[in-house]
Amino acid sequence: MTILQVDALKVDRSGISIIRNAALTAQSGEISVLLGSNGAGKTTLLESLSGIIPAKNGAITLDGQQLSKLWPGARAKAGISHVEQGRTVFSEMTTEENLKVALAPGADLNEAYDLFPELLQRRTVKAGMLSGGEQQMVVIARSIVNRPKVMMIDEMSSGLAPIIVSRLMTAVRKLADQGMAIILVEQFASLALAIGNRAYVLRRGEVVYDGACAKLAKDPALMHRLYLGERAKM
Ligand SMILES: Nc1ncnc2c1ncn2[C@@H]1O[C@H](COP(=O)(O)OP(=O)(O)OP(=O)(O)O)[C@@H](O)[C@H]1O
Ligand SMILES: [Mg+2]
Repeated sequence: MTILQVDALKVDRSGISIIRNAALTAQSGEISVLLGSNGAGKTTLLESLSGIIPAKNGAITLDGQQLSKLWPGARAKAGISHVEQGRTVFSEMTTEENLKVALAPGADLNEAYDLFPELLQRRTVKAGMLSGGEQQMVVIARSIVNRPKVMMIDEMSSGLAPIIVSRLMTAVRKLADQGMAIILVEQFASLALAIGNRAYVLRRGEVVYDGACAKLAKDPALMHRLYLGERAKM
């Protein structure tokens, strides 16, 4: 089921057109992988969906509700969560305090700890003392405690060891299998395509591929052309 629909999205930064007419959807139970070279506009796209920066034009519809005019907190409440690039934890607070920061009344940490039992063992440790992988678990766990319908994760794997990346990918796949819609921005394209359903390639702010992850995964030449310039026939 399509839970998030984005149409004709345009976003400017400092007067420059960064996202030009992008369209994408996210489905419950699926992972949409968003790829593209450095500066393609992946982060800008996610930031405009969560409301960190305003869109110049376009419709963002979450489960039938128009998000475009809402401020970021209201979008989060409507069910879209954003794990931002950079993995920011409150380092002087414990793991558990970090998870409780945005906890809505009536919500609990059970699902977060089910997903990452590692964090339960580290619940009283200051987040600044955690490894990079554990900190990434904290920011992902923090973003699911209020049961979002859509979770967007920006550059989950950067700087992490392959074994940790694979642990995180498994967790993200599990969230999707439980019904969440995920939008995953990833530099490690092959790993993301292996767990993802639908892929989008962004090039200079335009979607130049919208199709199955499997098709892209088995065609490195197509991927190469998309990154370098050619638009796929869609
Ligand atoms: N605050 C800003 N003001 C002006 N331009 C910006 C700003 N942030 C990013 N840009 C520009 O917007 C374009 C898209 O950047 P963005 O960070 O969205 O790309 P990205 O695909 O996420 O790249 P990366 O893979 O490096 O994270 C780039 O040309 C960048 O220089
Ligand atoms: Mg980015």
